[in-house]
Amino acid sequence: MSTTDAQEQSNKPKITKEGFRRAIGVFKYLAPYKFLFIFGLLLIVISGLLMIVITAILGQLAGAETMANMPGSSLTAIVGSYLPDSLPLQSTGKILGILGILLIVQGVFSFIRVYIFSYVIENAMEALRRDVYRRIISMPMQFFNERRVGDLSSRLSSDITTIQETLNITLAEFVRQTVIIVVGLVALVSFSYKLTLMMLATLPVIVIIMVLFGRYIRKLGKLTQDKVAESSVIVNESLTGIVNVKSFANEAYEVMRYGIGIKTIKQVALKSAIWRGMFGTFIIIFLFGALGAIMGYGAYLRSIGELPQLLVSFVLITGLVAGSIGGLAAQMGTIQRSVGIIEGVMDILAGQPEKLTTDQKVVPATLRGAVRFDQLHFHYPSRPDIEVLKGLSFVIEPGQQVALVGASGSGKSTLAALLLQFYLPQKGRILFDDKDATSFPLDALRSAMAYVPQEVILFGGSIRDNIAYGNPLASDTEIEDAARKANALNFIQSFPEGMHTLVGERGIQLSGGQRQRIAIARAVLRNPAILILDEATSSLDNESEKLVQQALDELMKERTSLVIAHRLSTIRNAHKIVVLQEGQIVDAGTHDELLNKTDGLYRKLIELSRSQEMHA
Ligand SMILES: Nc1ncnc2c1ncn2[C@@H]1O[C@H](COP(=O)(O)OP(=O)(O)OP(=O)(O)O)[C@@H](O)[C@H]1O
Ligand SMILES: [Mg+2]
Repeated sequence: MSTTDAQEQSNKPKITKEGFRRAIGVFKYLAPYKFLFIFGLLLIVISGLLMIVITAILGQLAGAETMANMPGSSLTAIVGSYLPDSLPLQSTGKILGILGILLIVQGVFSFIRVYIFSYVIENAMEALRRDVYRRIISMPMQFFNERRVGDLSSRLSSDITTIQETLNITLAEFVRQTVIIVVGLVALVSFSYKLTLMMLATLPVIVIIMVLFGRYIRKLGKLTQDKVAESSVIVNESLTGIVNVKSFANEAYEVMRYGIGIKTIKQVALKSAIWRGMFGTFIIIFLFGALGAIMGYGAYLRSIGELPQLLVSFVLITGLVAGSIGGLAAQMGTIQRSVGIIEGVMDILAGQPEKLTTDQKVVPATLRGAVRFDQLHFHYPSRPDIEVLKGLSFVIEPGQQVALVGASGSGKSTLAALLLQFYLPQKGRILFDDKDATSFPLDALRSAMAYVPQEVILFGGSIRDNIAYGNPLASDTEIEDAARKANALNFIQSFPEGMHTLVGERGIQLSGGQRQRIAIARAVLRNPAILILDEATSSLDNESEKLVQQALDELMKERTSLVIAHRLSTIRNAHKIVVLQEGQIVDAGTHDELLNKTDGLYRKLIELSRSQEMHA
């Protein structure tokens, strides 16, 4: 890193050079439409020019000034020459005719411009949204540990909407106003350089103050936005965890938490309103004051014969120019804010995704199903000082069912996550069929496994959709078959709408056991070489437990399975039981072998769970 870069970072400017460069990257999305976009910009330039001419004509009508002295007179002359000479037009009538034609041209241009811009930008935003979403969803697990869902989804929704508005409206206005300022000034000088000088002596001072004003208002605006985002995170969290809220009867607490959030929004917004109000007041007093002064000076110049009879046009164009300068100052704020937002979106695109093969059809790795954990050491990237797995090794033979037991927090789910390649171990490795896991394409490897997580979260669609997630191409009979094997068909058919019953967001309209059996059906449908099952800790009633157990037995038949077990019944039939304690394997063997070790941890766990069952 060069010293200037370091300095820039320590000074913490709003927009770093690097950030700006990254933000510019958004224009890459406009590149496929660059000619259309440039054409759109050209139309804006032309309409800016026409605006000056039209204003001049309006001024001329008001002041009955002669056409020959007008800015853009050659243009009006050309338009005029198309009007038939035979038309018995008065001079005012002729001017009106030209005005009408120019207005129609301006109107049509405006329509074309609006559509072209929208066409280009909506296409670009479609591509941007798709890319950002693809990047987000392909990021490694750790990425999601470090971020909130609400933040990520607002990158896609509100942030990209802001970018779209900036490119569409702000950029168009920016160009239009720049054109009006430049051409307007040229026109003004052509009227009277003295009067223009007088104007230039007053306006820039006002503009500079306005820019400073604007900058502060922008800061407040950003603050308001941050506060709005913060408060929506509260809403997201409380609604996602609505079960917690309800069960702890914490509605009032959540309302209070949200109340504090929205109160801050109001306070910041009101502060911003005061500054925006003062901004308006300042413009009214000083800008219009300056206009008055300019008019007075113009009247004086006219009285001494230094100004031709064009004062009305001059004032109108000055108004136009001044308005554009003010508008430009305001746009700067939006643009600057957008650069920050674009930077955030581009940051996501700059992230390092998992190495998935990107084609749509993933061919699962054909595995016999031998798995070997070899001296695994692992800590979560966000907690480097807590080692979760400490040199763990064991083997699962093809078709073998291995149960993993151990106290809560001993690292069982973590091991499943590593097997699924959600994280890479810092030391050691995992081998599939004696080949290093990293030698397989990631998505092919995952396609050969099925995972029933500890906490089953279903998608909001129907039961059928949720089962079909295991294999989107499956037929109705296959899906029904999978549901039957998972012991789920009975309860599914007891619903009036059967497979098409909606499960509610995250599946809340189903019981825990039902949800689990749907997740099992999903895994059955997948027909994986390796099954990973993280049993729910929540105890099911005897009846559902039996149903779930039968479903699992069916699923695990002749299949390499790693079952993280919390219930005795799951364990008894396993070929091997591995006992995990604080990230290390302390024992392994069959149920009977382990039970015979009088002081073994397994025996203790079993005794513990027996006494729990007795109390239940
Ligand atoms: N995403 C994460 N980031 C950081 N630390 C984590 C993360 N997930 C789990 N841990 C930590 O890793 C350790 C092992 O957790 P793990 O979920 O593997 O336990 P477990 O054996 O599955 O427990 P349980 O029986 O309660 O499901 C715990 O100390 C936990 O706090
Ligand atoms: Mg767990």
